Amino acid sequence: MRELIDRLEHEKILSREEFRALLACDDDTLHRRARAAREQIFGNRIYLRGLIEFTNHCKNDCYYCGLRRGNRNAQRYRLAKEQILWCCVEGHRLGLRTFVLQGGEDPYYTDDMLADIVRCVKAEYADCAVTLSLGERSYDSLKLLRQAGADRYLLRQETSNPTHYAMLHPPGMSLSARRKCLWDLKKLGYQAGCGFMVGSPGQTLDHIVDDLLFIREFDPEMVGVGPFIPHSSTPFAGEKQGDLRLVLNTIAILRLMKPSLLLPATTALGTINETGYELGILVGANVVMPNMTPANVRENYLLYDNKNRMDARVINQRLRAIGCEAVISRGDYIEL
Ligand code: 5AD
Repeated sequence: MRELIDRLEHEKILSREEFRALLACDDDTLHRRARAAREQIFGNRIYLRGLIEFTNHCKNDCYYCGLRRGNRNAQRYRLAKEQILWCCVEGHRLGLRTFVLQGGEDPYYTDDMLADIVRCVKAEYADCAVTLSLGERSYDSLKLLRQAGADRYLLRQETSNPTHYAMLHPPGMSLSARRKCLWDLKKLGYQAGCGFMVGSPGQTLDHIVDDLLFIREFDPEMVGVGPFIPHSSTPFAGEKQGDLRLVLNTIAILRLMKPSLLLPATTALGTINETGYELGILVGANVVMPNMTPANVRENYLLYDNKNRMDARVINQRLRAIGCEAVISRGDYIEL
């Protein structure tokens, strides 16, 4: 295993078979080396992003997601611009300098409305970055939002195998459309984030290797990885959740493959284990996303069951307990 880890660290790539072996390995060396790689670049500094989940309406029907159109049990909500801006006031006060506007694919918010929201946040907080996480959008829409001031965009590919993609999504959605959108983000000068769930139904180790190889090709600034967690009102209600160790190994491998990557300890990771955020950071993650969604609607943004959240008020405490420190800065990607 040590030899594989050395080679990954120096050459940033392994054969498929070697990647599979490393993903499945039970040796904490991988975790220690990934943590050391993070510390070498970022020291003990962890970046924060305030997550504002502003709509849980969605026109899509992805089989894994609790926001899916077909979920009649969801209590739907939308935030007005003023409410979103209030989340930013509070977030800024707590030291957050990136706001992530995330929502389902909700046509209620037109391009112009979204551009206006982005412009207002940027006008109010010149020292902050705006990240969008709004699903697939047209080139022209992404362009407008970029021109309005959006800095970054998160869009997980979910899987890099077209057949597996079709197992997770209804007809009408395709991996090629997802990929086109990801490449459009690059073209438009967004800092781009992709990612996937570990342990989604039908996923094999080979699929994860496909994702690692796609990430190498796409060369994103950010990658979000977390365990799949079943949601009771979806077709995948009875499936089992992603394996903690496999998530941690995946994060560690990504850190070694691309040491400068912005890699969050995700909410899903914090949900399957009480110390999930800490574990993620200890294997190479360098971002946490405290939840800034207003308390009265937060309970309704349920991608999966038992969703946990990182509270911005306890984040410093939790980070300090593992020898880390939250930074008050935009935390932009820095090319090595
Ligand atoms: N379990 C874990 N992650 C999920 N997501 C959606 N549904 C689930 C689930 N059941 C993730 C997807 C999406 C991101 C916003 O949340 O990867 O891209």
